[in-house]
Amino acid sequence: MIVNTELEYKGNLFPSKIVSYSKDVDTLYFKTDNDVVLELTVVRDSVLRFRFTTTGNFENDFSYAITKYASRGYNKLEIEEEKEVYKVTTSKLICEISKLDLRVSLFDAIDGSLINEDELGFHWEESYEFGGNIVKMSKASHDGESYFGLGDKPAKLNLKGKRFENWVTDSYAYGKNTDPIYKTIPFYTALHNKKAYGIFFDNTFRSFFDFANERRNVTSFWAQGGEMNYYFIYGPQMSDVVANYTDLTGKPHQLPPLWALGFHQCKWSYYPESKVKEITQKFRELRIPCDAIYLDIDYMDGFRCFTWNKDYFPDPKRMVKELSDDGFKTVVIIDPGIKIDMEYSVFKEALDKDYFCKRADGPYMKGKVWPGECYFPDFTNPEVREWWSGLFKELVEDIGVKGVWNDMNEPAVMEVPNKTFPNDVRHDYDGNPCSHRKAHNIYGMQMARATYQGLKKYSYPKRPFVITRAAYSGTQRYTSTWTGDNVATWEHLWIANIQAQRMAMSGFSFAGSDIGGFAEQPQGELFTRWIQLGVFHPFCRVHSSGDHGDQEPWAFDEDVTDIVRKFIELRYQLLPYLYTTFWQYVEEGIPMLKSLMLFDQEDVHTHYRNDEFIFGEKILVCPILEQNARGRRMFVPRGKWFNFWTNEIVNGGKEMWVDADIDSMPIFVKEGAIIPKYPVQQYVDEKEIDQVVLDVYYKEGKEDSLFYDDAHDGYDYIKGRYSFRTFKLTGKPNQLIIQQHKEGKFTANYQQFLVKFHGLPFKVSSIQIDNVDIPLANVKMNGDNSMIVDKDFTELHLVGE
Ligand code: GLC
Repeated sequence: MIVNTELEYKGNLFPSKIVSYSKDVDTLYFKTDNDVVLELTVVRDSVLRFRFTTTGNFENDFSYAITKYASRGYNKLEIEEEKEVYKVTTSKLICEISKLDLRVSLFDAIDGSLINEDELGFHWEESYEFGGNIVKMSKASHDGESYFGLGDKPAKLNLKGKRFENWVTDSYAYGKNTDPIYKTIPFYTALHNKKAYGIFFDNTFRSFFDFANERRNVTSFWAQGGEMNYYFIYGPQMSDVVANYTDLTGKPHQLPPLWALGFHQCKWSYYPESKVKEITQKFRELRIPCDAIYLDIDYMDGFRCFTWNKDYFPDPKRMVKELSDDGFKTVVIIDPGIKIDMEYSVFKEALDKDYFCKRADGPYMKGKVWPGECYFPDFTNPEVREWWSGLFKELVEDIGVKGVWNDMNEPAVMEVPNKTFPNDVRHDYDGNPCSHRKAHNIYGMQMARATYQGLKKYSYPKRPFVITRAAYSGTQRYTSTWTGDNVATWEHLWIANIQAQRMAMSGFSFAGSDIGGFAEQPQGELFTRWIQLGVFHPFCRVHSSGDHGDQEPWAFDEDVTDIVRKFIELRYQLLPYLYTTFWQYVEEGIPMLKSLMLFDQEDVHTHYRNDEFIFGEKILVCPILEQNARGRRMFVPRGKWFNFWTNEIVNGGKEMWVDADIDSMPIFVKEGAIIPKYPVQQYVDEKEIDQVVLDVYYKEGKEDSLFYDDAHDGYDYIKGRYSFRTFKLTGKPNQLIIQQHKEGKFTANYQQFLVKFHGLPFKVSSIQIDNVDIPLANVKMNGDNSMIVDKDFTELHLVGE
């Protein structure tokens, strides 16, 4: 800890007093005596961008993270010059900029309370090694202030007291607190005095965040180059902060095909074809639902991307078709390293067209990966991306592959100490040439983007599916992701839970872990507990490195197979609920998993919880993370919850013991929720669904629930062919009313809902549907409290005795 303030200042340079101020529509410029300029842009009433230069001139304004679809515009913008500050007011925020030293303070425009203030504020240090500046920002950190976000960091959810580095890194068998790992998402949300704000530091150089670690009252962030360029996002709800960040860096460009939300099976590697078939047939034989089967690097000829090993896969098109006839979509891996081989057309073409990355002094960037010595396409060049996307034509259009898995795109290089390119490698950076210091963190993102463009084009009229390992902020627009090479240990089950939640609160919900662990082999119990968690992650895939044994649901004992089947079946039943959740994410940027502080930030107990999360809006889940456990203590957030298994009602706001033997896990449903469910299918759209179940959980009071549906693939939904139902539930001591509102032009095959009532506090004596009395005998108001209702009802009214 630095205690001598003089030392703090040493080596650092600071803005001096403001000498001029100007305004250009939504952007304000404050210039200081020593040529520092603060460019302050009002993006929205609650989103301000702060950008600093120390030379009087800004670099070309270019970001891979910010989407062109980001919302812009504000209701109010007033600028006042006061004695000591400039005061910028929007309808949500007041920003004061000190005339003396450019320090910034931010206040809630409604109640005037201080939200965030600079400590030293912007300062910098000249980089003697590379030129340019090391740019720094420090802000006051208050008692009771907590910090969340930063993507895939495998550390406790609350980041306070820790320091982190952002440098996308291949991290085989990383562990708790390993830093950095695969992703760079320089965005965090802070919670203080029940109010939330976020900071997105859009700088792709190696960057650092210190959350009151070095100094207890200071939070700071800095980068080894580039500009101090950050967005301040005010809530005050944490969910709004995350939604606004997601709006800025982009929601997924379309919904995934529904099959992508099914269960996926993967291994390094399934080959030859007979092995692949053996696996897929076994799924069907054992009646374990599965939608996707993956081919890892061994399907290729000598690990050359876009080729096939014809000994293992003599006729890929036929195989992919046969798999597809059985309901399996084939997903194949594609890495960035292109084998140096003059006989290999992809290599030849890229070489001829000058598409490979080069070192600063001219030679190609050569590095060893799976195929041996490789060159690497410069995905930051738009022409190269276009070429790359074209390479998928045969795989997708002709062979019928449905998804592509991008790996090693950090970019990973073997047998070199820094595991990646040297700093001097040059990149186009979309016409802003730069070194690898700046391009490293976005290299994998641009590869996934190019892959996505190919898949999108050649899968049309179906939707594309891509998965990536490396990512920077904004990558969620193009692809799903997994958390890299984890290990089959209980600690990693904890990490998987943290990472999926943290990714969701970092704008990237479509994420999951290698279920069961990639390295080493799990015992049946660990595998079972991991499946139980994994079915509640947006991306749900078993993957493992083959040298440690088998990891299919039947690789353990029969009990494991049965429990695994039960949980995968539950996921398939919950698909309409999960799809609705995905739709809310794509439409509004709402995270699909909500850690408890995101769900109930007013209750400070939630700020320190790690294990429990809300799946979608209504289902509370808590994985069992210990061996031999027959239950666990968990925190149930405020409100009333139904135990999913027993229907017992619990009052939240406290910790409690919950039984969960190996065939169970703690799952609760929020009172008042209406959960849509499909029947179990062996793969998505195996069956024509003739009835959707609505599980209705009674509540005294009101609660809204949603149900989104469409054709499950294709783009018709964008033209309005979707069906979006809102259910408004009102419960009274002896009545229950459900009103349905429907939007969209999609007509599903099913005609009916099977409505199942849970926890009705009265015995039903009369029923009205759309104001018409229904004789009790005519509806199937069975002993189990369920009834069949036409799917287009507008009001269902139960009256009790
Ligand atoms: C990397 C990936 C892993 C894959 C393996 C072989 O380790 O992270 O998922 O199976 O490479 O391609």
